Amino acid sequence: MRTFDRIPSLRTYLRGIRQEGRSVGLVPTMGALHAGHVALVRRAKAECDAVVVSLFVNPTQFGPHEDFAAYPRDLSADQRLLAEEGVWALFAPAAEEVYPPGARTIVEVEGLSSTLEGACRPGHFRGVATVVSKLLTIVQPDAAFFGQKDYQQLLVIERMTRDLHFPLEIVPVATVREPDGLAMSSRNAYLSQSERQAATALYRALKLAQTRIVEGARDAETRNASSLRAELEEEIRREPLAQIDYVAVADPENLQPLADLPQSPVLVALAVRIGKTRLIDNALIGLDGAWLTRARTRMS
Ligand code: PAJ
Repeated sequence: MRTFDRIPSLRTYLRGIRQEGRSVGLVPTMGALHAGHVALVRRAKAECDAVVVSLFVNPTQFGPHEDFAAYPRDLSADQRLLAEEGVWALFAPAAEEVYPPGARTIVEVEGLSSTLEGACRPGHFRGVATVVSKLLTIVQPDAAFFGQKDYQQLLVIERMTRDLHFPLEIVPVATVREPDGLAMSSRNAYLSQSERQAATALYRALKLAQTRIVEGARDAETRNASSLRAELEEEIRREPLAQIDYVAVADPENLQPLADLPQSPVLVALAVRIGKTRLIDNALIGLDGAWLTRARTRMS
């Protein structure tokens, strides 16, 4: 595996790959890699000839009081893992390479960026959209792979890709979980043993939502999204270490809160603080209770 920290040398390398007629898949990450990232890499390998992973802890998507400085970083462990997975190139730039001195350009996806995570973390999706648009422009992949674990991020990136006419496919990948249901996350490393136990409250709430949505599909009386939301909040509050940021039952296309449960899949999205660690999770739940993966979108 080749590692690049400069854009020109990465571009020269990628030009060679394209001249050989090979397709390129990009997996953007912030490192501290885990099985969730590996699932993205494996999907990219299955679909593209050459896989490029980017590793960049993007300062502009962290708020002033968030964990940018503390975010886990271990480049050599990540390099080893990616080499074992058969990744062709790792792009791990310094901040000045991505944001040249005097940079003034931002990408803002309006509307979708201001609810849920965007309401709790102002400016977060501006940082994400800006850095992902840069990475797509630098690498110019045929496909880019994103986890459904960050559902709103996926939606923001799909919208941006359409709006800016980036000629590539955005491929969603299902959330990878620990055996007890906790979604894999680099931030799980912050959890103490008791917090790790408490963190299972998120998955329990999603499973409860699944049960209620199946019941609602049979019985119109119980098809009420706000009582479902209240019940999920109650379930999470049973865990003393958990502090709810939001529990949302929303339209999976526009993220708007639902009043009634529709005859179509529903997004249940959670943000919960366990001690000082903020965790998010979600499920896209069909009327039969199936957990769905978003369809891929080809942009041209
Ligand atoms: P990061 O949190 O490192 O995640 C990189 C990619 O891995 C994202 O697409 C994320 O959704 C996916 N991912 C994380 N945990 C996952 C899990 N348990 N199952 C499946 N996929 C998972 O998301 C970011 O970095 C950044 O915002 C980034 C897109 C790189 C822009 O800076």
